[in-house]
Amino acid sequence: MIELKSIDKVYKKGGFFSRQEFRVLKDVSIKINDGEHIGIVGSSGAGKTTLAKVLSFLEPYSNGSIYVDSVRVNKKNIIKYRSRVGMVFQDPLTSLDPRMKIISTLKEALKEKDIDAIYKYCDIVNIKQSLLARYPKELSGGEQQRVAIARALISNPQYIIFDEATSALDVSTQSKILNLICDINKDKAYSYIFITHDLKLASFISDRIYVIYGGYIVEETKNIHKEQLHPYTKMLVNNEEIVQLDDNKNKNGCVFYNFCKQRKKICKTAMPYIKRISYAESVRCFLYD
Ligand SMILES: Nc1ncnc2c1ncn2[C@@H]1O[C@H](COP(=O)(O)OP(=O)(O)OP(=O)(O)O)[C@@H](O)[C@H]1O
Ligand code: SF4
Ligand SMILES: [Mg+2]
Repeated sequence: MIELKSIDKVYKKGGFFSRQEFRVLKDVSIKINDGEHIGIVGSSGAGKTTLAKVLSFLEPYSNGSIYVDSVRVNKKNIIKYRSRVGMVFQDPLTSLDPRMKIISTLKEALKEKDIDAIYKYCDIVNIKQSLLARYPKELSGGEQQRVAIARALISNPQYIIFDEATSALDVSTQSKILNLICDINKDKAYSYIFITHDLKLASFISDRIYVIYGGYIVEETKNIHKEQLHPYTKMLVNNEEIVQLDDNKNKNGCVFYNFCKQRKKICKTAMPYIKRISYAESVRCFLYD
C-alpha cells in the first residue's frame, strides 16, 4: 500500500532577488491499496504528471510524507522504494533510448534477474523475439509501448504508473494496449495508477478515481459517471466549457471559485478541507459542510 499525506510540491524559479514559487501540488493525500487500480483525472496543467513524478520518487516533494506499506519513505530508504515503481509514459518513442536496441533496454531493467525474464515478459506483452534486435524507431507505436510495458514489468515493481500511456496511439492500438494492461494484472499482482484526460478510459480501468484540479485533489469517487460531488467534476463529466465568471484573483478562497456556478460567500475567502462522504468517496467543497 502506498499513502501520500498532505503532499505539497513547490517549484522555485529565478535568482535571489527575483525568486518565484509555483505550488503545483497542494495538500495532496491519496491512498493506493495493494492490487488496486487508481485513476487520476483532471485537465491539462492540473498537476497529474507532477504527482506521477512524486509517486515514483523521481521528484522530491516539498512538504508532507509518503508511506509504503506503512514505512515512511526517507532519504535513506528512497532508493529501495524507487525500484518498486514501474513507469509507462505517454510517448513510447521518447521514453526508450533511441541508441539502444530493444534487448539492451530490457537487459538494463533486468537487474540481477535471469535473462529468460526478458523472453517471459516479451511473451506476456506479445512482443516477437525478432523485434529485440531492433532500435525503437524501427517499431510501431503499439510495439514501442509494449516494450515500455515489458520494461516496467521486468523491474519487478510493486506499483506501475501509466501517465497518458495510451493517448499517443491510434484508437484500435489504444484498446489493444488497454486490454493488455488489464490482462497483465488479472491476479492483482500490481497496484496501478492510471493518469489520463479520458474519463471513459479512467472508468474502464479504475476501481477508484481521484479528480485533481489546480494541484488539489477535489474529489475521490468510485463511479465518476454515476454521480459527481464536486462542481468541477460535474463540468468535466458533462464536457462543459469551464468559463471564468469574474476576473478577481482569488488567492485565499476555493481553487475553483472563479469558475464555479454554485459558489457561496465563504468560498471567496476560505479553501475547503477534504470531507469523507463514504469509504471510497470524498470531496473538497463547502457544499458538503
Ligand atoms: N519544473 C517545473 N517548474 C515550474 N512549473 C512546473 C514544472 N513542471 C510543471 N510545472 C507546472 O506545474 C503545473 C502542472 O504540470 P503537470 O505537468 O503536472 O500537469 P498535467 O496535469 O500533467 O498536465 P497535462 O495533462 O498537460 O500533461 C503546470 O502549470 C506546469 O506548468
Ligand atoms: S467550495 Fe465553493 S467555489 Fe469551491 S467548488 Fe465548492 S461551491 Fe464551488
Ligand atoms: Mg501530464
